[in-house]
Amino acid sequence: MRILVASQLDPTALLQLQRDHDVRAVIGGSEDALAAAVGDREAIVFRSGVTISNDVLAAGPNLRLLVRAGSGLDNLDLDYVRSRGITLHRIPGPGAQAVAELTFGLMICLARGILRGDRNLREGHWIKSELVGYNLTGKTLGIVGLGSIGSRVAALGAAWGMRTIGCVAHYSAERAERLAERGFNLVDLGTVLEEGDFVTVHVPLDETTRGLIGRAELARMKPGSYLVNAARGGVVDEGALFEALVDGSRLKGAALDVHANEGEGRVSPLVGLPNVVLTPHIGATTVDAQREIGREVIRLIEGHEAESRQGRMAQVAGAADE
Ligand code: MLT
Repeated sequence: MRILVASQLDPTALLQLQRDHDVRAVIGGSEDALAAAVGDREAIVFRSGVTISNDVLAAGPNLRLLVRAGSGLDNLDLDYVRSRGITLHRIPGPGAQAVAELTFGLMICLARGILRGDRNLREGHWIKSELVGYNLTGKTLGIVGLGSIGSRVAALGAAWGMRTIGCVAHYSAERAERLAERGFNLVDLGTVLEEGDFVTVHVPLDETTRGLIGRAELARMKPGSYLVNAARGGVVDEGALFEALVDGSRLKGAALDVHANEGEGRVSPLVGLPNVVLTPHIGATTVDAQREIGREVIRLIEGHEAESRQGRMAQVAGAADE
């Protein structure tokens, strides 16, 4: 198959693709670079950090397969993909645990001032007396979006001895019961914000979630609470977050793995605040998750190839019968 690889993949998977297929790699390219590269390609494999815009897709008349090597679909126009009849696969499972674990790392960074301690110690300052932190055990973990990633965060929270509450876009008594069996309480967004000592966001970015956590929502948060966003930058209004962090009457700190503007050279507007931890969208970036995603990419491409071969053989047989 003729494949455009647009994002960093697990090295073993990339080697296997290069061995068995005709691969063109334009990693993290701009829309123009991707549109120029797509040409005769039949498939694109990509993650976040690139935009597979309609212009990119329009430049590839032979495209028949898109493999989203991860979860989010916010860098793609799904209606256009459908209208072109291009098959789209996403691989949400393997990254979910990695994102959940990073969320915990960020919560602990916030609760214990780990980055402040590190930065100061490198300059010879022992600010031990300023770094009196909090335990997670016994605190309330509020999860916005108890889906695949959110419920893994909830499970980690329960293991950590946290009281776990969360909300979903579509409440149902049945879902609430299923989650309650696992020890997670399904509540509404307002309750998550008002009761969470740590509020963590795990919803996809779409028109219903853009700006979901804005000025009004931040004003409802519990005094002394922390916010973590490992979902998508656009879900939390960064301007409102900046104001809430400077004000400090509710939010004590925030950690963001995702940002409204991402990519080399972009600097978060929150960069000057001491009570913020920033990471460059590394939620799913673990060897373990990427290795599993890489294997699934190969499996999907091979499966698609096998189906196309069968389709062609059936056509030939049909023509012979006529
Ligand atoms: C995802 O949506 O899977 C994550 O953001 C990871 C990524 O693709 O880089």
